[in-house]
Amino acid sequence: MSLAYQCPLCKHTLYSDMNTLTCTNNHRFDYAKEGYINLLPVQQKNSKQPGDNLDMVQARRAFLTTGHYRFLQQKVAELVASVNPENVIDLGCGEGFYTQAIASLANANVYGLDISKSAVKYAAKRYKTCNFSVASISHAPFADNEANVLVSIFAPLFEQELNRLLTRHGSLIVASPGPWHLKELKQYIYKEVNDHSPIDVPAHFELVAQDLIEQKVELNFTDVKNLITMTPFAWKFRPEHWQMLEQQGEHTVTLSFYVSHFKKM
Ligand SMILES: C[S@@+](CC[C@H](N)C(=O)[O-])C[C@H]1O[C@@H](n2cnc3c(N)ncnc32)[C@H](O)[C@@H]1O
Ligand SMILES: [Zn+2]
Repeated sequence: MSLAYQCPLCKHTLYSDMNTLTCTNNHRFDYAKEGYINLLPVQQKNSKQPGDNLDMVQARRAFLTTGHYRFLQQKVAELVASVNPENVIDLGCGEGFYTQAIASLANANVYGLDISKSAVKYAAKRYKTCNFSVASISHAPFADNEANVLVSIFAPLFEQELNRLLTRHGSLIVASPGPWHLKELKQYIYKEVNDHSPIDVPAHFELVAQDLIEQKVELNFTDVKNLITMTPFAWKFRPEHWQMLEQQGEHTVTLSFYVSHFKKM
């Protein structure tokens, strides 16, 4: 079953009319030329440009294109495909790297949501087999109990929404940092690097499986720069840190991810 978008203003179903989605209260939303729909009302914007900015999106696109995160992409897409869903929502999809991989492996209607317009623009322009929208995942524009699989990759989790959106026994697949993810880079800015724990089981869910996947990769300065710029701790890097990173040139970096599969009870 495909999913109908819900009006972010009145929660009524949105119907397609040419290049526009309209609800019975006549709220109208136009598709952008790149093919995405903007369902983010001003009330749900916490800033002028919420979510990742263009620099972060470009850095993420450039880094992901190197293929160093392909093993995570593959793992997530295979896991989603293994539950044979009819529909999947990627919550906080960014520029669509994982959304696209899921769509090509699973025989499902795949939706990507992100509050960052820059990210969704990049996603929709490149990946035409997915349905992308600018929307808040704290008020996702879909009806209750209709999603078969929710995917969250390094994105915030809104527990109530996860429970509301999923069908009974639906799957939630979450990728989060593993114990020593990027430890070699964090050593530049933290005196002591703490390891990450697996995420807690969200309320109303049970854990099906949790895998830790890791690789050590060799990165040049451009890769390292993009990798840091796409993360939230980029702002901690001062000019002297960048200088040291550039001087060292090649870096061995640990990539480490927990991939957790939960089921709604
Ligand atoms: C670390 S990025 C991960 C992006 C993508 N999942 C990936 O791994 O390539 C987190 C994403 O969550 C988005 N985000 C943060 N808060 C959000 C919200 N309330 N609603 C929708 N997206 C949100 C950001 O704009 C950003 O694209
Ligand atoms: Zn409406």
